[in-house]
Amino acid sequence: MCGIVGYAGRRPAAPLLLAGLQKLEYRGYDSAGIALLTPEGVRVVKTAGHDGVMAMEILAGQIDRLPAEATTGIGHTRWATHGRPTDNNAHPHLDTAGEFAVVHNGIIENYLPLRARLREAGCVFQSETDSETVVHLLAHYYRGDLAEALRRTLADISGSFALVGMCRHHPGQLVAARRNAPLIVGAGAEGDFFVASDIPAVLTETREVYVLEDGEMAVVSDGAVSFSDFAGTARAKTVMRVTWDAAAAEKGGYEHFMLKEIDEQPRALQDTLYGRVNRSGLVDLGIRAEFFAGVERVALVGCGTAYHAGLIGRELLEAWAQLPAETAIASEFRYRRPLLDEHTLVVLISQSGETADTLAALHEARKNGARVLVVTNVVGSTAAREADEVLFTWAGPEIAVASTKAYTTQLEVMVLLALYLATARGRLAAEYSAALLAELQALPAKITEILSRKEQLRRMAVPISRAGSAFFIGRGLDWAVALEGALKLKEISYIHAEAYAAGELKHGTLALVTADTPVLAVATQRALYDKTLSNVEEVKAREGRVLAVAASDNRELGDAADEVFWLPPVSDALAPLVTIVPLQLIAYYAAVLRGNHVDKPRNLAKTVTTE
Ligand code: F6R
Repeated sequence: MCGIVGYAGRRPAAPLLLAGLQKLEYRGYDSAGIALLTPEGVRVVKTAGHDGVMAMEILAGQIDRLPAEATTGIGHTRWATHGRPTDNNAHPHLDTAGEFAVVHNGIIENYLPLRARLREAGCVFQSETDSETVVHLLAHYYRGDLAEALRRTLADISGSFALVGMCRHHPGQLVAARRNAPLIVGAGAEGDFFVASDIPAVLTETREVYVLEDGEMAVVSDGAVSFSDFAGTARAKTVMRVTWDAAAAEKGGYEHFMLKEIDEQPRALQDTLYGRVNRSGLVDLGIRAEFFAGVERVALVGCGTAYHAGLIGRELLEAWAQLPAETAIASEFRYRRPLLDEHTLVVLISQSGETADTLAALHEARKNGARVLVVTNVVGSTAAREADEVLFTWAGPEIAVASTKAYTTQLEVMVLLALYLATARGRLAAEYSAALLAELQALPAKITEILSRKEQLRRMAVPISRAGSAFFIGRGLDWAVALEGALKLKEISYIHAEAYAAGELKHGTLALVTADTPVLAVATQRALYDKTLSNVEEVKAREGRVLAVAASDNRELGDAADEVFWLPPVSDALAPLVTIVPLQLIAYYAAVLRGNHVDKPRNLAKTVTTE
């Protein structure tokens, strides 16, 4: 999730690139850089954020170090994946002689063997990134034709990419290619061309854009653009006129970041799983086995949504790895004097890696000699830096305050961690683990299918949006998902919502159920269908309105509930990863129907840095 801007035209490139990057900051912002073509070679400034000052701010202050007269250049704003957020790891990357420059979004999967090969050929690498291999390949294959060098480079790399390159010997030329990462070419006035990862980067300059498809290349040269496939066969493309306003364009045409992020979940789950299953079909967390040796119990700690992810992690760890596990709210954990020692693994879960309560729990764990594993979405965050080991969720920047894709990717990491420990401890049959991993790989398609049925969820949100209060019920893993569903509804719709273990409802709470109090039943756990069904009947008997999200084979619920959103087939253990999606959407539509500020709900902040 990084941002790319390139420019080739007659105007000074640096201010145009900077302005474009500033429009893309929402895509990733831990480092940023600009490179310009000059007759002597490529000139570059790039930086990570330092001492609390954002990278983009530092870059803006350094822009006057670049030649003001240069009219061709590329820029990048980065959200670290391979390699920490440092000045050297920031893009653009240059070849050894400083004649070529490249910016890249995505992941070059085979970068390790490529890097070894290029090093042998004499290339000097300056960064830890996968992206740098691309610029060295470009220089390696260059024989006077930059587009041909790119074609040969593309034949060598696997993975996902949007990339733009340029070369000292070709003033006014940019070459670009895409596979599984967005890239557009904007056609400005008088032969000005922009290449960008997102439309907002170019919108102040032009509304005429060409959208590249996977497997396409673009070459901007001498005030014209041409397109081809990777083999060089020309492609005709029609220009599209963008009619959205700039603010909407930052959201990729979505009304709210939250909806965009909900829709990004299939991709985020793929990215988080990527590289974590080895050739033998086993989980590979990239953490040395000794780190886990002698662990006797696990404490999963987080706040809000992250805590809810920990609840699922606990169930899976106990069920599969047969490790005693507890889940704790971070703000309670440190004051409770938890029993911690060197045999305890403390798993801190935090999207931002900056939540004060979670960091305090980290310090408490460290003080007591426990091992600290951090699950976070932000490379370079405080929690990631202070951890003994880190597992990143590769959800990409989450902008909406209400967490969605960070949660589902946290759940995926919980599954991987539990499977890994279960296998390491010899507690899980290899076939069972293999079947679950295969299913995990198939989940993005199932979520995509759920996302195609948004209309039903919008309809189900109508009675909820009119209620003053709602209950969410479920048993086992469904209860943990119900807690997260209720939190989503509360924070963005401002409707009072409470999640109950379904069997607990009759111990007092049923007194609150009336025809005006919708009850959302979650029912995916096969062994508990009948029990949850009885609880639904209890609600119906009090004239309550029951809306359900249920497994497709739980047909009896169809007769009992007022409306059911049926889930695609999924095993009990992995059900939370799909079940939450309709609940996120119900909360989203309820908030929209009430006219709320969905992305920035009242009283809340994305990162809570106070205890
Ligand atoms: C709810 C939400 C919060 C966060 C919590 C912890 O949608 O986002 O409950 O989960 O503030 O934040 P992180 O995960 O950044 O530590």
